[in-house]
Amino acid sequence: MELLRKKTVRGHGCSRLKRCLSATDLTLMGIGAIIGAGIFVLTGVAAATKAGPAIMLSFVLSGFACAFTALSYAELAAAIGGCGSAYGYAYAGLGEIVAWIIGWDLILEYGVATPTVAIGWSGYVNNALTALGFGLPQLLTMSPAEGCFVNLPAVLIILFLSALLSIGVQMSVRFNAVMVAVKILAILLFIIVAAGSFKLENWTPFMPFGWHGVAAGAAIIFFAYIGFDAVSTAAEEAVNPQRDLPIGIVASLAVCTIVYIVVSGMLTGIVPYATLNVPSPVADAMLRIGHRWASAVIAAGAIAGLTTVMLVLYYALTRIFLAMSRDGLLPPVFAQVNETTRTPVRIILTSGFIMAAIAGFTPISHVTELVNIGTLAAFVLVCAGVIVLRYKQPDLPRPFKTPCSPLIPLLGMAFCIYLMISLPSITWLRFLLWLIIGMIVYFSYSRHHSLLAASIQQPTLKDG
Ligand code: ALA
Repeated sequence: MELLRKKTVRGHGCSRLKRCLSATDLTLMGIGAIIGAGIFVLTGVAAATKAGPAIMLSFVLSGFACAFTALSYAELAAAIGGCGSAYGYAYAGLGEIVAWIIGWDLILEYGVATPTVAIGWSGYVNNALTALGFGLPQLLTMSPAEGCFVNLPAVLIILFLSALLSIGVQMSVRFNAVMVAVKILAILLFIIVAAGSFKLENWTPFMPFGWHGVAAGAAIIFFAYIGFDAVSTAAEEAVNPQRDLPIGIVASLAVCTIVYIVVSGMLTGIVPYATLNVPSPVADAMLRIGHRWASAVIAAGAIAGLTTVMLVLYYALTRIFLAMSRDGLLPPVFAQVNETTRTPVRIILTSGFIMAAIAGFTPISHVTELVNIGTLAAFVLVCAGVIVLRYKQPDLPRPFKTPCSPLIPLLGMAFCIYLMISLPSITWLRFLLWLIIGMIVYFSYSRHHSLLAASIQQPTLKDG
């Protein structure tokens, strides 16, 4: 209880970030972070090799895991707030070590997803440049591990986003809104054009790989939903966080779930699912049914979509990093907010250079599933946090309450764990390695520098 009080007081007292985000901005941020590589890239491989046309059911299954978790997030975001998102909620309800694990998982989620999406973005941009006659030399399009020198577009887009995020959150939000409009228009165009070429026979067989395939597909395309949680990292920049964060989280997830089910249904209805294992399945399918111009518009929508995903996930990474540095668990030198831009410039630039190097020089897109398992683990702990906090802090004001608790958080945990065990064992091994590294950092540095733990051991005069 003491920890919760101190955490909440600190969270508000330390903020010099600018409060300027409305419910609409937060919803657009959520849609910005969610719709991207998952639908524009991964749906193809998941449908072709795992689920077939039943990829729609995979989206429903993952959607349930996310919906239950989103309701849990919404309760904690409204009740606790703070820019540290799930890390901060865990700190308040479950203690420092669990908070560290969640924060470490979130760094994995946002820090690996951003360069992964940058590599997908680079592929789309290279295709577009080549189609326009300005193709880059191949040596500049992939990492050394793939026989090239550097993935230059992937490096440049991350450096561009670093500059944008440093300038200020309002500028970033405006850029995001324009890009979200482009990607939504492209998706609507796809749905309208595809509706005219839909053939029911493409849905037969509907579930060629059985239920096992649907679950394996869901574990992969869970990536498509990642990002709604990023909204909760904006708590200290929201004008009315207690009301607007739940709206932003739940509304963005609801819109994207509908989009995903319709798009995946259409995609597998216009071409045979087995032909979808290509890098740009949505644009390719349009081309194959003879709509060249629609394919070009969808490729532009995908580029815009992947840009907003990187922007918001990168934003979220910096806010988690900021919260952990302010608490002393990461070096406090990063906790400074620039007086002019009111953004954490040191964190933005440091993490930007690291992610640009990863995107440019490593084949990180091969470990996408690591992002999924890290995120799912954090989601399990968020759902658990709702149950524990209801028990430990029954009187805490909760402007938004998860309905039917503890049933909904328990279902959230069950769905997320089910998706985790549907991931391959190599992903589990990599994840355990990540956790071990996290524990080494925690016990060798963070535990000894934790400001909250120190303030509880040595109460200040004000605390009495
Ligand atoms: N949900 C995001 C995407 O699909 C991470 O790209």
